[in-house]
Amino acid sequence: MNRITTTTDVAIVGAGPAGLMLAHLLQRAGIASVAIDVRARGEIENTHRAGILEQDSVRLLTESGVSDRVLRDGYRHAGIDLAFGGGGHRVDLETLVGATVQLYPQTDVFIDLADARARDGGDVRFGVSEVSVADLTADRPLMRFTDAAGVRHEVAARILVGSDGSRSICRHEFPDATRRQFFREYPFAWFGILCEAPPSSEELIYSHSERGFALISQRTDTLQRMYFQCDPTEDVADWSDDRIWAELQARVGANGYVLKEGSIISKTVLPFRSFVQEPMRHGNLVLAGDAAHTVPPTGAKGLNLALADVRVLAEELELHLRGEEVALDRYAERALRRVWKAQHFSYWMTTMLHRLPDASDFDVRRQVGELTSVVSSAAGSTYLAEGYTGWPS
Ligand code: DHB
Repeated sequence: MNRITTTTDVAIVGAGPAGLMLAHLLQRAGIASVAIDVRARGEIENTHRAGILEQDSVRLLTESGVSDRVLRDGYRHAGIDLAFGGGGHRVDLETLVGATVQLYPQTDVFIDLADARARDGGDVRFGVSEVSVADLTADRPLMRFTDAAGVRHEVAARILVGSDGSRSICRHEFPDATRRQFFREYPFAWFGILCEAPPSSEELIYSHSERGFALISQRTDTLQRMYFQCDPTEDVADWSDDRIWAELQARVGANGYVLKEGSIISKTVLPFRSFVQEPMRHGNLVLAGDAAHTVPPTGAKGLNLALADVRVLAEELELHLRGEEVALDRYAERALRRVWKAQHFSYWMTTMLHRLPDASDFDVRRQVGELTSVVSSAAGSTYLAEGYTGWPS
């Protein structure tokens, strides 16, 4: 069957935040791209994810000219509360490391990026199907897809980028002998809700308790985001609003907090795992974001890591396309250094705050000892603040 054949510099599989930010940065460097996604734009806009941006993520959005809505509609947070052992302990990020974070949901980051692509005339196709990539080690690797109108396309590029998320098809194109995959599973998940209520706290509360972890986050003055540790097989249908509120109140109540309740408009169980595929390059295919690595949500590193990947990738791709052969391998090395720091940070936050199903009293007391060490030591809380606000690249 006939295909429309086109050429471009960079073909991008996956038009979530990583793919769109990459396309935006490439265009600023005079590099053409085509980005595709199997999801419709509306579907991505309605997938709720984390809401905390590191300061370099905020800078990337504003200074590269995507939008300054993150500053206007987002909320600057200069600290977080670690709640454990019966009380709250504020970690003052700004005093400790001179940096803050911005509460601004991933869905809004996506909307800003998609709007910027439309504004700047970027070639982005949502709702495509039958996606495949081929000729990865040839000079002209190919991206094939059928567009939303049913027309088949073949894009010949110089480089392919797989920014196609945790269910990436691109990462499976690495021959087994060339790749390693690193996994860590956790015996729990998060139950996430959105509710119509006023904020219960000005800053985020990361709450440890004998009943398990809870995270109190916000969205706006009238909409709140909260999570509590649950069994990975939990069915949202078993959780009435009353049952959810009782569980959340019990967990934060153990540390002296009372939540303002409201009607719950979204309930989801979020998967929880750590994953890395190395290397992030095979021939003329490179991976970015969740396609190459997944972190558990504690600490909200996923989106920030994806944005950090593509900032480095845009720099190195520009050098590669100008003939510097080693630039793509350098991307993979630079990105992986940060990825493994973030893997450790997310793992550490997770294991410090969650209750293992078979935890003994010793284990719970030891966690309280660890949390006490963190908040009472300048070194401990500075380490937390550095990781939370993001490392320089
Ligand atoms: C949010 C999610 C996180 O995983 C986190 O660590 C902080 C905030 C959020 O959705 O607001």
